[in-house]
Amino acid sequence: MPKESRKGFSRRSFLQTTAAAVGATAVGGLMPASFAIGGSSKVRIGILLPYSGTYAMLGNSITDAFKLRVQMGDGTIAGREVEYIPIDSEMSVPKAPQNTKKLVDKEKVDFLVGPVHSGIAAVMAKLVGPREGPIMIVPNAGSNAVTGPLCADNIFRTSFSNWQPAFPGGKVMADDGHKTAITIAWKYAAGMQMMDAGKSAFEQNGGKVIKDIQVPFPNVEFQANLSEIAALKPDAVFAFFSGGGAVKFVKDYAAAGLKDKIPLYGPGFLTEGVSKAQGAAAEGIRTTLHYSGDLENSANQAFRRAYDKAYGKMPNVFSVQGYDAAALIINAMTQVGGDSGATGDLINAMSGAKFPDSPRGAWHMSAAHNPVQNIYLREVRGGKQKLLGIAAKDLEDPAKGCKMA
Ligand code: BEZ
Repeated sequence: MPKESRKGFSRRSFLQTTAAAVGATAVGGLMPASFAIGGSSKVRIGILLPYSGTYAMLGNSITDAFKLRVQMGDGTIAGREVEYIPIDSEMSVPKAPQNTKKLVDKEKVDFLVGPVHSGIAAVMAKLVGPREGPIMIVPNAGSNAVTGPLCADNIFRTSFSNWQPAFPGGKVMADDGHKTAITIAWKYAAGMQMMDAGKSAFEQNGGKVIKDIQVPFPNVEFQANLSEIAALKPDAVFAFFSGGGAVKFVKDYAAAGLKDKIPLYGPGFLTEGVSKAQGAAAEGIRTTLHYSGDLENSANQAFRRAYDKAYGKMPNVFSVQGYDAAALIINAMTQVGGDSGATGDLINAMSGAKFPDSPRGAWHMSAAHNPVQNIYLREVRGGKQKLLGIAAKDLEDPAKGCKMA
């Protein structure tokens, strides 16, 4: 459907079409024409996620939980079998155009799920958003631009914007009584946007950032940076690393003798899914994130049991984002009677999506297609996240530059 007519698609006509489609399927057992003619009864899910390198754990967690959510239904998406077409993004921005085009133009996927990396997300959004592409679901990458200036009617996110978990973290650091801080992060969109957000909240609340340290992505040689931190003696350090890099940074920080002198803070990616591997070095680190493993809602308990049974390990925030990405597609596809060609109807369904019982707690889709969600304050204790409270309730990204918002 051309972009103009998607946008013009009224909720009333959507409801009429949906009712008709559901009725036809129920009464006649007919397949909606758009996929009967296409010749494929399977829903094709293109996945562009990292399965190698420092973010491999993130990509695997998202994929596992996506598949789990499909299996927790009847193993189909709205009655249609599912075919997964995964590509390892290798976290490569230069390879992102060819990988995206392969999934969209060659594989002709119905839905595009990815990526983890903010730089790749911006490339994908530019290719998919302004054209009649498949609906793209971002299950991690926090690029502010994707739900800001690059926002588009066919792009949705089930994770966070980089601003969201970082801004409350800066306030927590100030509330804990710290007056000076150093930020340290990988030098690309995610790191810079998270540090900007944390820094502005810290400074709005009376703190002063005395140095911003940027480390080339995905380098994990931190010795010179740690020596600089030791010499400058800030009250606290605010950091973004994730996956394998977060394990190395937190361990190196402790080994350099800084852990007990200068407390570490950051968006929750610093310890999420890796706190066991970080061991004693992670104990006591306070972070802010839209999930905590010990949330007591029943959806989280059920999700954790099912994930453990399926994979023999506990899920993390990346799993939750993948799980909700599958739920977003399943719910919308169910509403349109399984017709993946009904782009306008699917967009309407996803735009109004509400998740009253996500493992992270209730959230809903903003006008810019980004989750409006709680940000929790957690602390690592005994190798696990301990929920300390809600740092920001129902936090909505400002979506600066998004014309839909
Ligand atoms: C990002 O690039 O957007 C990102 C990667 C890992 C964790 C969080 C954000």
